[in-house]
Amino acid sequence: MKPTFYLTTPIYYVNDVPHIGHAYTTVAADVLARYKRLMGYDVYFLTGSDEHGQKVEKAATTAGETPLELADRVVKRFQALWERLGISNNDFIRTTQERHKKGVSHIFKDLLEKGDIYLGEYEDWYCTPCETFWTETQLIDGRCPDCNRPVEKLKEESYFFRMSKYQDQLLAYIDSHPDFIQPKSKRNEIISFVKEGLRDLSVSRTTFTWGIPVPGNDKHIVYVWFDALTNYITALGYPEATEDYQRFWPVNVHLIGKDILRFHAVYWPTFLMAAGLPLPEKVFAHGWWTIEGQKMSKSLQNVVEPNMLIDKYGVDAVRYFLLREVPFGLDGDFSHPALVQRINSDLANDLGNLLSRSTAMAVKYFNGILPAPGELNASDLALKRRTEEMIVTMETCMNDLAFSKALQAIWEVISAGNKYIDESAPWTLAKDPALKGRLATVMYCLLESQRIVHIILTAFLPATAKKALASLGCGEEKELAGLTWGGLKEGTVITKTEALFPRIEG
Ligand code: MSP
Repeated sequence: MKPTFYLTTPIYYVNDVPHIGHAYTTVAADVLARYKRLMGYDVYFLTGSDEHGQKVEKAATTAGETPLELADRVVKRFQALWERLGISNNDFIRTTQERHKKGVSHIFKDLLEKGDIYLGEYEDWYCTPCETFWTETQLIDGRCPDCNRPVEKLKEESYFFRMSKYQDQLLAYIDSHPDFIQPKSKRNEIISFVKEGLRDLSVSRTTFTWGIPVPGNDKHIVYVWFDALTNYITALGYPEATEDYQRFWPVNVHLIGKDILRFHAVYWPTFLMAAGLPLPEKVFAHGWWTIEGQKMSKSLQNVVEPNMLIDKYGVDAVRYFLLREVPFGLDGDFSHPALVQRINSDLANDLGNLLSRSTAMAVKYFNGILPAPGELNASDLALKRRTEEMIVTMETCMNDLAFSKALQAIWEVISAGNKYIDESAPWTLAKDPALKGRLATVMYCLLESQRIVHIILTAFLPATAKKALASLGCGEEKELAGLTWGGLKEGTVITKTEALFPRIEG
């Protein structure tokens, strides 16, 4: 039986259309999913949409639609974008689906029965026009942070989750699982937050109706985060002990943005503890993108629309840029010139040129029929070793979610390939028939190194790697064995590739 790997993205709110921030997490998750499949794992890759709550209800009212009509419309935009970006998720959960609602009611009821959810009173600052409760610290100059109008102290009946009860247990878990919260700096922030003391959490609302009713008291709607987080288990079939649930829970990694870490590293694990369920192995919070130095926002009209980027630069260039430009876990800045620079230098020059030069030579010197290599000399062995070492480095980088570092390791092999051509000078070897055997070895090593590079690249640049592998006479290897040196067989038909990435003139 294959080992399993379960990974998730956040489920995206349908009151907003997809932007580069959403695409970022989803592409990162996709690369990891594809890599793990390549490494022989049975992967469950979940994404989806968060469709309940006041924000969606309001957006629908503004748009003159019912919340479900709005959700049905916007969810299609997310799904269409994922398809264009080549996202290989094998499930898509919508919180309005029956399977999800059933699971949320179940866990809520379970915690009520256990006494970990109780009915109490919630007192906070209420903005009547916005129908929103704010805590003292959220207020700006004592006014509503959204509309700047005065707020009043109000009491609302609410169900509470006994989060305080799990404070020590959570700290102990974080302590004994050093990799649970990543990156490290974020882990420390969470530890300090928990140590300051966990308060019980209000987990129901009575100020709107668009959501899952509290079992047995439908005046109350389940708090949107309690509802949303549960998607990670309802997608697998919880509360049923389905095969998927048994095989894939606990999750290997939740990929999220840093703004929603507290929900995933504090709320979610304590809900699971209360329900007696195992905790996630890892929660990884990535950084945020600014746009040419500024925060991305509708009011600044600088929201970067992924479809526009794909139209302009192509899918794989966008996937590459997102993961190469900024170390995963840090904040980064998006700009068109930076993207063009990456395309021209890394993709067109290094990656694309190497393949077109090598395949063109194979066609020119051997009519496109791959010759068998002779004995490898020191420089051939060095290229072979570099290629093999890259696979090992890759494993560490991918397990650390260090996508940028992983790409750097691949690009070192590409540079080594470019240097190898210059040093071996096949054009000189080709002039002397007595050196035909040496020329054959050089061509073999050159193409074999790239075959392995492009198999790894199927995780990052699926469409490009597929093209490259086709020109190397290979299908898309799905098996780990494809990464072993020597896979390219004598007699394979090599065809010259068109440029994988045309240069973009600035
Ligand atoms: N619905 C919740 C998540 C529930 S998960 C159980 C939500 N949705 S969201 O659509 O608002 O945001 C989803 C993700 O987009 C978050 O991980 C957030 O970090 C990410 N991003 C939003 N803007 C971003 C950037 N500017 N840069 C990078 N990621 C950003 O939160």
